[in-house]
Amino acid sequence: MGKILIVGAGGQLGQCLKTVAERRAITDIVFPAEADANILDQTGLTSLLQKEKPAFVINCAAYTAVDKAEDEVELAKAVNETGAANLALACASNNAVLVHVSTDFVFEGNLVKLLTEDDEANPINVYGQTKLDGEKAVIALLNEHFIIRTSWLYSEYANNFVKTMLKLGAERDELNIIADQVGTPTYAIDLANAIFDIILSDSKAYGVYHYSNEGVTSWFDFAKAIFDISETDVKANPIPGSAYPTKAIRPAFSVMDKSKIKNTFGIAIPYWRDSLIACIKKLNEK
Ligand SMILES: NC(=O)c1ccc[n+]([C@@H]2O[C@H](COP(=O)([O-])OP(=O)(O)OC[C@H]3O[C@@H](n4cnc5c(N)ncnc54)[C@H](OP(=O)(O)O)[C@@H]3O)[C@@H](O)[C@H]2O)c1
Repeated sequence: MGKILIVGAGGQLGQCLKTVAERRAITDIVFPAEADANILDQTGLTSLLQKEKPAFVINCAAYTAVDKAEDEVELAKAVNETGAANLALACASNNAVLVHVSTDFVFEGNLVKLLTEDDEANPINVYGQTKLDGEKAVIALLNEHFIIRTSWLYSEYANNFVKTMLKLGAERDELNIIADQVGTPTYAIDLANAIFDIILSDSKAYGVYHYSNEGVTSWFDFAKAIFDISETDVKANPIPGSAYPTKAIRPAFSVMDKSKIKNTFGIAIPYWRDSLIACIKKLNEK
């Protein structure tokens, strides 16, 4: 299989990859600090890969502040597009395969249908556009790539919707939650497992793949499940997105079809509620 190098190791998915690598006894793996693996530093990246000689690079580094990206367009573009291109070039000159993580936000979300990898991408916010441009850069610069689009990531690490709901649910009696945006949550531990499954398969079926947990929900029903499972006593009110305006508009429906990743790599994907139970159990152990 060869050595694996993680870029963006300090973020949510990076930390999940570390946890899963330990659980699965994957030891030929390095997690450089951000200062040593800055994706804006092409020269630094190339020397890092020359030194470490990884067979696989997993890119978890990204600009992920969806609303802030509307104001910080250049920075979002630099990290999500130029950064991805820098990494693809460094991989190309060092014979490494790149596993690059992208998002359901590349889709407009105006159709109620399961989105396949062949469906047209048409982002409706700056973050989604920069992530799509990052995908295009990787595809143009490096044949040996796996681009994995995921959605609604959460875990016991970093800031995410589950941890925010648990915090707010403990502080307040009542919460208003958007009920007309529909998608699928993804436990980042499950995604980390899927990424290692792909790498360990030694497959050369390069390309774009969709991965989220199984099932469909809204932010409101997701929050309700978080409160039910954690036995948090809070009244949740469903509201339309129009009642909670945000700087960036978001896809109304972005449920992805996972047939391609399941059929190509034989990956079994957990149902979102089962994974949520697992995550809340982990959080309770902390
Ligand atoms: N979170 C979600 O709901 C979600 C949904 C769909 C897809 N995704 C995608 O999934 C991937 C992982 O997301 P995540 O939730 O793990 O994000 P995250 O927690 O925000 O982690 C991103 C990491 O990238 C680092 N980073 C930023 N600029 C960098 C640079 N120039 N060089 C190296 N590292 C840099 C960040 O460091 P700092 O903290 O120091 O900036 C952070 O540690 C991303 O590609 C994201 O677009 C996420």
